[in-house]
Amino acid sequence: MEKVIVLDFGGQYNQLIARRVRECHVYAEVHPYTMGIDKIKEMAPKGIIFTGGPQSVYASDSPQISKEIFELGIPILGICYGSQLIAHTLGGRVATAPTSEYGKTEVCVNTKSELFKNVNPATIVWMSHTDYIEMAPEGFTVTGSTEVCPVAAMENPSRKLYAVQFHPEVMHSVEGMKMLHNFIIDICGCKGEWKMDSFVEKAIEDIRAKVGNGKALCALSGGVDSSVAAVLMSKAIGKQLTCVFVDHGLLRKNEGDEVEEVFGPNGSYDLNFIRVDAKDRFYKKLAGVTEPEKKRKIIGEEFIRVFEEEAKKIGAVDFLVQGTIYPDVIESGLGKSAVIKSHHNVGGLPDCVDFKEIIEPLRMLFKDEVRKAGLELGIPEHLVFRQPFPGPGLGIRIIGEVTEEKVKIVQEADAIFREEVANAGIAKDLGQYFAALTNMRSVGVMGDFRTYDYAIALRAVHTADFMTADCAQIPWEVLQKVSNRIVNEVKGVNRVLYDCTSKPPATIELE
Ligand code: XMP
Repeated sequence: MEKVIVLDFGGQYNQLIARRVRECHVYAEVHPYTMGIDKIKEMAPKGIIFTGGPQSVYASDSPQISKEIFELGIPILGICYGSQLIAHTLGGRVATAPTSEYGKTEVCVNTKSELFKNVNPATIVWMSHTDYIEMAPEGFTVTGSTEVCPVAAMENPSRKLYAVQFHPEVMHSVEGMKMLHNFIIDICGCKGEWKMDSFVEKAIEDIRAKVGNGKALCALSGGVDSSVAAVLMSKAIGKQLTCVFVDHGLLRKNEGDEVEEVFGPNGSYDLNFIRVDAKDRFYKKLAGVTEPEKKRKIIGEEFIRVFEEEAKKIGAVDFLVQGTIYPDVIESGLGKSAVIKSHHNVGGLPDCVDFKEIIEPLRMLFKDEVRKAGLELGIPEHLVFRQPFPGPGLGIRIIGEVTEEKVKIVQEADAIFREEVANAGIAKDLGQYFAALTNMRSVGVMGDFRTYDYAIALRAVHTADFMTADCAQIPWEVLQKVSNRIVNEVKGVNRVLYDCTSKPPATIELE
């Protein structure tokens, strides 16, 4: 299979580069720059990309690369730090730039270069550097420059070495994708036949090779990531996999049954499925607790305890499967293991249970790629495109103490909101939307009676990355209908409020 290696020098966009290569339909893997030449030869990539990185190439402890790599005859593209490293290693000169460049910058490129074929002679790119290449190494031609950066691009086509100071992989580089395509397809000579189904096939092969006759355990939440990971594992190892679905009683209406329908004994997959009804345990632990962080911790801990008990019942399990995806991987890929978000659905690892290894088959994928893989695996669309749901579930959508009665109220209100959003056909425009239960009760009148009931808060946001979010402008008619239905149909609610705050200063969830 054609592949490109992305050599990681600690930059921010390393996985994004790999993703862009995959968008050219070529398989890409990110590896630490310390990966040996022999390993590279063994992998026989069609091309190598050096990523950016935070250091100065001339600093004493900065990542370096053996000259040997340039003798392999494999095309190399250096980006930012990677470009400076090529210059530095091959006898050019790198220095602190008199003027740093950050952000969108116009670069003039030589369109006769194969890298810049069909690119405008003056094009906008994303720059982020304090050092620059002062002088290109012998044998290199300068093919791009900006007002303050004399060598914004350089190349030695006969040795198939290319370097750009800017970041073609980020969206702000208007024609960056064209440049990467030129490199991958024209310069490296890739055919570009890789598709997500090849990822799925390869992942299945790798899992089989790794697990052998061993047993694997997966914490299934019903969310996109753990569902895709579970199905992938089940295709690879069938009944050697057990999925444990902890129903903590804080799921959306009918959610537990829906998960069981897909993954349970009457579902479509070959795996062992255990649904643990742990509702009462969770409610008991949460009784009287009002502080949000405390609630989160209790839910996370209890989740682990339940999971651990199930694992022990199954007996010797060799592998733990996690649906970690790239945005969850906090460390850069410099050979360190990933830190898994402790607040994530799996809630941290049960360290009292012995596992030989953790398998994270989706580690290198972005969310939309996980969804593509999910579709490829035949997972129903309503599961693949479902909105994110936090691990602590409705526990953090009920302000104050969690009780079974409150869970029921928020489940019903949320189901109505979701139904009406679907009826209005606006679901795909929203990043996340849900109902939450405020801890506020107020006076109302129903029929001829005074009521003193809860207020439901509706929340709907637009967001690209869930780090920031804008309040979504849901059509008034939809809000009115939802509000009418909730107060009429959900006992215990007499008021509906719409949350108009953005994030920051608010967060998406209420707790
Ligand atoms: P906030 O509330 O921090 O949420 O703006 C950002 C995104 O993260 C989700 N979220 C969680 N997901 N476990 C999760 O798996 C959690 O504990 C958790 N808390 C928040 C939230 O739903 C939103 O998509």
